[in-house]
Amino acid sequence: MIEFRDVHKYYGDYHALRGISGSIRAGEFFSLLGPSGCGKTTLLRTIAGFEGIDSGAVLIDAKDMAKVPANERPTNMVFQSYAIFPHMSVGENVGFGLRRDPRSKAEKAKAVEEALEMVGLKGYGARAAHALSGGQRQRVALARALILKPKVLLLDEPLSALDKKMREHMQVELIKLQRQVGITFVLVTHDQEEALVMSDRIAVMFEGEIAQLADPETLYRRPNSKKVADFIGTMNFIPAQVIGEQGGQIEVEAKGLGRALLNADQCPAGQGDAPMVGLRPETLTLMYPGQTTTERTVDGIIDEVIYFGDMTYYDVYLGGTDVEVRLSMRNTPGRPILDVGTSVDVAWSPSALVLFR
Ligand SMILES: Nc1ncnc2c1ncn2[C@@H]1O[C@H](COP(=O)(O)OP(=O)(O)OP(=O)(O)O)[C@@H](O)[C@H]1O
Ligand SMILES: [Mg+2]
Repeated sequence: MIEFRDVHKYYGDYHALRGISGSIRAGEFFSLLGPSGCGKTTLLRTIAGFEGIDSGAVLIDAKDMAKVPANERPTNMVFQSYAIFPHMSVGENVGFGLRRDPRSKAEKAKAVEEALEMVGLKGYGARAAHALSGGQRQRVALARALILKPKVLLLDEPLSALDKKMREHMQVELIKLQRQVGITFVLVTHDQEEALVMSDRIAVMFEGEIAQLADPETLYRRPNSKKVADFIGTMNFIPAQVIGEQGGQIEVEAKGLGRALLNADQCPAGQGDAPMVGLRPETLTLMYPGQTTTERTVDGIIDEVIYFGDMTYYDVYLGGTDVEVRLSMRNTPGRPILDVGTSVDVAWSPSALVLFR
């Protein structure tokens, strides 16, 4: 549906997009994820046609967009600053794009009401737009874009002004809606959890480049660099040494854990970093007295206990070394919260490791 071919963009001397390539499939929920200033909004604006590019190409439906102005592209954008018209009512805002729609007044009013219902603002149509909260304005902007059913909907942090409950509600609503209407969504977010929850695929961006483009599970389980691993969720990094290769596998010696054989998919291409293995907190398990495991175990000492209600995080020194890892345990009935200073066994599995180097 959308293809980037080595896209470069400068703002004066500043190289904002540094060779973006990749494609977004029709009907996909695609997210651009990255820290503030990495170029997410800029890239989204090149799809919409609000931003020109200095070299490369942006294609929509296999057509080069170089000479196609924004208003002739099959896209609609919800802006980061959710610009709504303050002098109009909520209903007039949402129905704005239907001005030249040949449907009857009653049909249009019904479409407006439906769009408002989707964003949790049923019955707000007659309200003055300027009298809304920031989160409500953001939802009006969303309804105004949705009502047009564009082929590609570009969403620039559309949920950032919403509280946690409303944001989670809108995330589910957007996923449902996207499945119903089958339009291609491109979402910009700096919230990694939001990207994981909502997307079919995610492009992780740093400093004007795509660092990894993959589905959420691959990004989480097999990040291709330390930087991506660090940006998405929590990852323990443990100093390691590469011992050698055997039949496509790589043997490593990780401080505190010992030796392990890793498959090729656990060893992304090197980035020139000091070798380290990465391990997610939930892949490590605290062993309670009398428990057994088929995984490997290592002894440890609890250094810190962080209680989260449903979960407890433990920071544990491993194998009598100064290597400290964070592990997470679900707080199920009969599972006591252990104290700082307790000696424990920690179960782990070589298949959960990722090698960065
Ligand atoms: N019109 C402009 N003129 C000059 N520099 C710009 C302009 N727009 C953006 N930039 C710069 O380009 C870089 C990328 O900006 P962009 O808005 O794409 O970032 P972003 O990833 O959307 O960040 P955020 O999460 O904060 O919205 C930033 O360093 C920004 O300062
Ligand atoms: Mg932005």
